[in-house]
Amino acid sequence: MIKACLFDMDGVIVDTAKFHFLAWQRLANSLSIEFTEVQNEELKGVSRVESLEKILSWGNVVLNNAKKVELMDLKNRWYLEYAEQVVPSEMLPGVLDFLNELKQKDIRIGLGSSSKNAVLILEKLGILAMFDTIIDGNKIHMSKPHPEVFQRGASELKFTPSEIVVFEDAQSGVEAAKSGGFYCIGIGEPAVLSLADAVVPSMAGMTVEKMESLVANG
Ligand code: BG6
Ligand code: MG
Repeated sequence: MIKACLFDMDGVIVDTAKFHFLAWQRLANSLSIEFTEVQNEELKGVSRVESLEKILSWGNVVLNNAKKVELMDLKNRWYLEYAEQVVPSEMLPGVLDFLNELKQKDIRIGLGSSSKNAVLILEKLGILAMFDTIIDGNKIHMSKPHPEVFQRGASELKFTPSEIVVFEDAQSGVEAAKSGGFYCIGIGEPAVLSLADAVVPSMAGMTVEKMESLVANG
C-alpha cells in the first residue's frame, strides 16, 4: 500500500526547468562558455553551487569564491525574473487533479526538491498548503543524486521508502530515489530516465489507480 508521494518540483509540478536553463545559459554565455540543452540535462536536480561548478569546469574557467557567489546571485536574479510568469495555470497538466485525489484518499504529499526557491514557487502556484512536508535546497546538505532529500521526506512523513513513490524528471533525482530504496516514476523520456522503475511522458492522466498498478508491475 502506498502511503505517501514525494514530488520533485522543477519539471514535475511546473516547467520552471526551462527558466533554470535560460538563466544558466545567459550566465554561461556571459563568461563565453558554450552551454547546450544536452549539458543542461546534467544540471537538472543538481544544486545551484554544483551547477555553477559544472559550467565553469566545462569552460575551463577558474574563479575565486567571492566571484562564484556573485555569479550565483546573478543567475538567481535572472531565474526569479523569468519565474515572475509562474501563476496557477502554469502548473503542469494532471498535477492538480492528482494532488486532489491524493488528499481525498489520505495519501500524504511531500516535496523533495534541490531548489532554494521551492516555497516561493509553490506559493505562486497556490498549492503550498497541500504539502504535508517540504524538503528543499535550504534543508539538505547533499544534493541529488544523494538520497538525502527523499530520506528526509520519508522520515518527516514517518513512512518507510517502500511505502512511498517518488516522481522525478531528472537523472540525478531518479538516481537519488533509487539509491534511497524508493519506487520511482520518471516523468519524461525512458532513454533519459533509464534507472526509473517506470517512465510516463507527463503527469497528465496520473491517478492513484495508475500509480498503484505501475508499482504492482514492478
Ligand atoms: C533543482 C533544479 O530543482 O533545483 C536545478 O532541477 C536547480 O536546475 C536546483 O539548479 C537548485 O535551484 P535553485 O532555485 O535553488 O537555484
Ligand atoms: Mg526536476
